[in-house]
Amino acid sequence: MCGIVGGISTEKVRNFIIEGLKSVEYRGYDSSGLALVINNKCEVYKTIERVNELDKSFESSFDSFLGIGHTRWATHGVPSVKNAHPHTSKSKLFTIVHNGVIENYRILKKELQAKGYVFKSDTDTEVVAHLLEKEYKITSNVLEAIRLTIKQLKGTYALAILFCRDQNHLYFAKNRSPLLIGHAKKGNFLASDYLPLLKTASDFVEIPDFHYGSLSVSEIELYDINGNSIEFSYHQTNLKQEALEKNNYPHFMLKEIEEAEQSVRFLIDNYFDGKKLLFDKDLIKTLKDAKHIIFLGSGTSYHACLTGARYFRELKKNVDTYIASEWAYYPYNNSKDTVFILMSQSGETADLISCVKLIEKQGSKIITITNTQGSTLARKADHVVFLYAGIEVAVASTKAYIAQMTALVLINAMIRNELNIFEKLEEAIVSQRFIIKDHEIIKKVAKEIQNSSSVYFLGRGYDHDLALECSLKLKEVSYIHSEAFPGGELKHGPIALIEKDVPVIVFISDHSTSDAMRSNICEIEARGGKIYVVSTQELSQEGDTYVIPNVRRFLSPLVSVMFGQYLAYYVALYKNLDIDKPRNLAKSVTVE
Ligand code: AGP
Repeated sequence: MCGIVGGISTEKVRNFIIEGLKSVEYRGYDSSGLALVINNKCEVYKTIERVNELDKSFESSFDSFLGIGHTRWATHGVPSVKNAHPHTSKSKLFTIVHNGVIENYRILKKELQAKGYVFKSDTDTEVVAHLLEKEYKITSNVLEAIRLTIKQLKGTYALAILFCRDQNHLYFAKNRSPLLIGHAKKGNFLASDYLPLLKTASDFVEIPDFHYGSLSVSEIELYDINGNSIEFSYHQTNLKQEALEKNNYPHFMLKEIEEAEQSVRFLIDNYFDGKKLLFDKDLIKTLKDAKHIIFLGSGTSYHACLTGARYFRELKKNVDTYIASEWAYYPYNNSKDTVFILMSQSGETADLISCVKLIEKQGSKIITITNTQGSTLARKADHVVFLYAGIEVAVASTKAYIAQMTALVLINAMIRNELNIFEKLEEAIVSQRFIIKDHEIIKKVAKEIQNSSSVYFLGRGYDHDLALECSLKLKEVSYIHSEAFPGGELKHGPIALIEKDVPVIVFISDHSTSDAMRSNICEIEARGGKIYVVSTQELSQEGDTYVIPNVRRFLSPLVSVMFGQYLAYYVALYKNLDIDKPRNLAKSVTVE
């Protein structure tokens, strides 16, 4: 979603901002903008083109030691130059960029309009710019104007603020939208993500919610909502800039699919010392003692939750799984003794953050499984399990899903005290390598289905979980309509969709359901559907499309999912689509 970059430095910041915006491009955006303070004036440029164009079209002589930039993913108001950020206040005193949603902007806008403030955009953000100016005109103090402004805001915000008469400070405020300070000898910097800061800063400061402050070249001031000055500490990150390189791959998605083995190995390296598993003992105790576990996630992470729930049910636990945005509005089963497992690659998904508020209210424990250290969901948790999958750049999640599944497998193994899990994971890795080496058939299937208007995926149990994930992947990057059904549901409705040549991809990796799946295949073929069977060796039959070396039933999602990931990738490639940045999607969904 939207990205923020800003800086105040002894060196000119235009290049830092442009490069920073490029590093958050992968999150998805539809317009971009930049503001630099030059001679007590904010020079602003906005475009609906890519960041490269922003740089090319903004007057090349403009540069400054203080500035902010933004990539926008439209929520309020269509993608357009007028709605792109930065937004400027009535008398051009304040220029701001914003991530998040101001929920009460309509009321605030009316009040401001009644006082003569004229709005130039359809955004919720512009309200903040005018409010800052209004409060400044009363207080003549920028920090106090920020405090009084954010007291009136309902919703989420990460704000980078320029007061155009002050060349020595970059201001900020934050509530429930990511914003980080990066500190370096040459200055202080702001970003909504570590990536823009990695080349420039070595020390980082988390800004707590409902806090605001200012940065000068050498100082950071942080305040709470009551205006009290707040102590802060620096931390470092192990994220590396190199993760943003494609290393000869044409797309990040392909690179990340082929990092499957690495995702499994990095987790083993981080949580196994050669003798025992190293998950926090309190985490394991929490899970062992739990009478009831609820998994929450969105999209791909929700699909990982579905399989995770099966693992825990096999431990005789009472387990439920919900899509985060659903549970947030219908918070069933909310007893204090329930343990919540929040699954999130980014750790910033707004739907999950909304759940956290409810969970905290009822006093239950939270376990976050995430790929992002220092993320909001990591900070809110009682226990955190990191995925160590490295930055996932492509919007479509691939290697993070495999890491999520591996983490769940390892946690379960520690609860069961089961050390032969590593042999089983090695088998899975062998199967993953097989798919990476030999997927010509998947390319052929992609060619065949690329012009289909719908594609269906079918499976039972674990195979249904991964069918859901494969279907999501195909939708996301190829824009083909796709659904996944449990085999047993076919006759209860979906079979009405089967007609001549409709592609149906069937997963078979489970002894207990393979006969039933073979019957489903007959039913589909009888209606003219075009079947593609993806089976494991021991369950395969002549004529199956793709046969994967044997893998344990519970590990099949770690392997067979790669069929769906490659399929989605190649369909998008043959259709010449923007694979790493599919339309309308964002890498981290920070608004509800
Ligand atoms: C995955 O391919 C998607 N882009 C999306 O469904 C994603 O999994 C979802 O938005 C959840 O994100 P999270 O894991 O960062 O919470």
